[in-house]
Formats: sequence, C-alpha cells, structure tokens
Amino acid sequence: MDNVYAIAAGEIAREAGQFLKHFSDGHRLAVENKGCDFDFVTNADRESQRLIASRLKARFPEHRFVGEEDGLSDAEVAEILKSGDYCWVCDPLDGTVNYIHHLGLYATSIGLVKDGVAVAGAIYLPEPDELFVAARGEGATLNGRPIHTTGCADLRHAFVSADVAAADLSRRDENLERIKRVGLAVGGLRIEGSACVCIAQTACGRQDAYWNLGLHAWDVAAGIVILEEAGGAVANVFAGPFGFDMKRGFLCAASGQLVEAFGEVVKR
Ligand code: IPD
Ligand code: CA
Ligand code: CA
Repeated sequence: MDNVYAIAAGEIAREAGQFLKHFSDGHRLAVENKGCDFDFVTNADRESQRLIASRLKARFPEHRFVGEEDGLSDAEVAEILKSGDYCWVCDPLDGTVNYIHHLGLYATSIGLVKDGVAVAGAIYLPEPDELFVAARGEGATLNGRPIHTTGCADLRHAFVSADVAAADLSRRDENLERIKRVGLAVGGLRIEGSACVCIAQTACGRQDAYWNLGLHAWDVAAGIVILEEAGGAVANVFAGPFGFDMKRGFLCAASGQLVEAFGEVVKR
C-alpha cells in the first residue's frame, strides 16, 4: 500500500497502541465516569488522543481533526464530516472497559473522511500486534498482507458479534431483546466489547458480521474503509444506508446479502 494517508494512519495508530500497551510502566491508570452509568474514560485515553492529534497535526496541518475525547455530539461530527475538508476521526482507545479490566481486546482507530466518505484508515490491536490498514480503491491489509471477508451470505451460518450498549442502563433491555432475536437466527454469537476489534475481525474473515446501535463516528470511520475494501458491506442496524449521524446504529457484514438478511431479522 503506498497511499500516504493510510501509511500515516497505520504508523500513528501503532505508536499510540504501543503507548497504551506500556502505559502502566510509567503511569497509574486513573478511571473517571463520563456521566452515564457505565461510560468510562481514563488518563490513557486522553494521553493517547493527545499523541494522535499532535502527530496528525504535524504531518497534515491543513486537515481537520475530531477525537472522541473532544466531546462533540454526533450531529456536530456529522456536520464536519459532510464538508469537503479532509477530517481525521479517531478513537484513541476503543474498548476502554476491556482495557481497564486488563482484557486484551482493545484498539486504536484512525480514519480519514472527506465529503462524508471514509477514504483511508487504520485499526491497531496492540496485544496481538495486528495492524489493519486500508485506502479507498487500494484494498485492505493486515500486517501488510491483503485481507478479505468470508463473503458469507447465509444468516443461519453466520458467526457474528454484537455489543450490549453497556454505557446506558436504560437501553440494555432493548438491546438484549435484539441480541436474543439475532442470536437465535445466526450460527454463533459473541460479545467482545470493542467495536473496532469486531469490525477488523469481520474484515479479515474471522467473523461474518457485527452490529451496535450505540456507536459514534470515531468507532467506525477507519473500520468502514477497511471492511469495504476487504469486500464487506456497511449499513445501519436495520440494513438501510449507513450515515455518519449514527442515528440508526451500525451494521457491517461479510457481504451485501448478509446485511440484508440481518435487516429482516432486526426489523421483525
Ligand atoms: C465502546 C466499545 C464498545 C461499544 C461501545 C463503544 P469505547 O468504545 O467499542 O464495544 O459497545 O458502544 O462506545 O468507549 O471503549 O471507546
Ligand atoms: Ca469506541
Ligand atoms: Ca474510546
């Protein structure tokens, strides 16, 4: 891959991920509640965002930047992403709850969006040292090798993952109902606690689909281009067109047919 944006995203995602992996060598992890029942942020999230923002600003001073810890609303982010400006959208630590519990499923994610389209991005998983990179029209790679989705089209045989939307207790019921419905229709279901990890796993064929009603642009910007370049499809949870306003959630799958089959079950 010789796309300058994808290469930069990959290098910076890896640097921030390694920083997170070794954070406890030099710092004590400080956990804060963000206001919702189970929504946490740590000093590691904040430091990682500082690192990513400063590296991107140094390389691409003319580009805009949105990070999760800036605290912008979905509507504000969607407005910025519609503009013709290049905008980097980053999640400095996806899977914060896993990270706090020393569970290795967490990632850094850096995507580049222009005119509402994700054009390049990288997701890095520090524990297995896996770097997923893609640029629009140039394919997707894992540690430098091309990756492809399974192409699975059959819901009955699909191995999928979801999230419980744990942050907001009032929405757990609704989500667990949906998880039960989809869980009964598919081949296998996992709940892993990191949207970026799940999207990357779908892109490289380790699973067939992932959905979540409570995501934000920074959770998916890099994942969308990686997944689509690997042959997968993205939609809202009800299989309608995906939008960065995030109003109807995020669904990705190994094929367009699988996205449609999902919509049928979720809408029921
Ligand atoms: C969260 C994770 C989690 C998902 C949440 C996200 P964070 O991101 O991706 O799996 O269920 O909706 O907010 O807070 O760890 O960056
Ligand atoms: Ca996230
Ligand atoms: Ca995060």
